[in-house]
Amino acid sequence: MRHFLSTLDWSRAELDQLLEASRAHKQARKGRRDLAGKTVALVFFNPSLRTRSSFEIGVFELGGHAVVLEPGKGAWPIEFEDGVEMLGEAEEHVAEVARVLSRYFDLICVRAFPKFVDWARDRTDSVIQAFAKYATVPVLNMETITHPCQELAMLLALREKLGSFEKKKLVLTWTYHPKPLNTAVANSALIAATKMGFDVTLLCPTPEYALDERYMNAARENVSAAGSTFTMSHDIESAYAGAHVVYAKSWGALPYFGKWEGEKPIRDAHKHFIVDEAKMAMTDGAYFSHCLPLRRNVKATDGVVSSERSLVIEEAENRLHVQKAVMCRLLAG
Ligand code: CP
Repeated sequence: MRHFLSTLDWSRAELDQLLEASRAHKQARKGRRDLAGKTVALVFFNPSLRTRSSFEIGVFELGGHAVVLEPGKGAWPIEFEDGVEMLGEAEEHVAEVARVLSRYFDLICVRAFPKFVDWARDRTDSVIQAFAKYATVPVLNMETITHPCQELAMLLALREKLGSFEKKKLVLTWTYHPKPLNTAVANSALIAATKMGFDVTLLCPTPEYALDERYMNAARENVSAAGSTFTMSHDIESAYAGAHVVYAKSWGALPYFGKWEGEKPIRDAHKHFIVDEAKMAMTDGAYFSHCLPLRRNVKATDGVVSSERSLVIEEAENRLHVQKAVMCRLLAG
């Protein structure tokens, strides 16, 4: 049984196969019934617009049935620690939840963001790992500390525009946001782009905005295997120069995890990292993308988001197609 928890566990060849399958789903759109008779649990611990819509519609279009569960809202709060005396809010343990859902569903999909208090704890990805430990059916990541479905949607959009990724420069740029955000999409964009052969520049305000070592090291290993390059830069002009793709995301600096008041002055001093027309003009006619949701004129200007080179809507649509491909792959055994 194979889970889809992180693309770190999937080879470049396997990701290529998923992208090919995604393309076939995109072409067929409503003409396939691969999930006929299959049931899918969509377990959301956090809000969503795209993920919830695209999974529900994707399962429906393939002939299956999806049920959305929101623990702590419409479903009982869940305990994830093993061996605890359950006197808190949780009414049941993931050991029972995952095994019961496995009796009802063919696939369990989970969205569980970090708690944003202690990165040492959050980086263990304990919620989805617990589902994977106890479930007897495949478990799929709908965003935790990585966002593998978003990775595939980004790659599909870029493959459609660029064809080959070799010798193409992708800038993963940090942008300002009034709140410190999850590093999931940044982690994912970094590991996906490096694994698939892009020359990647991680542009961020200071060294403190480096991503977790697990992903920085994966990026270094990926480019070594692919024969491409990975650099971290704090210089806007050289980072944008000659870029073919600008991928924007905001995230909180990990050394300040849980002590965000210390990070705020640094973040506030770098509002100029906004993706604007002047920066895009330094590139080699780069495509722009972002996972959405996006605060206009904070992360990127209206002119960039609405430009002909913006892929944000295409990438969002691609969530539907890539998730169909992943679900079919997991349920094919
Ligand atoms: N990009 C993304 O996952 O969007 P939602 O948070 O709306 O699902």
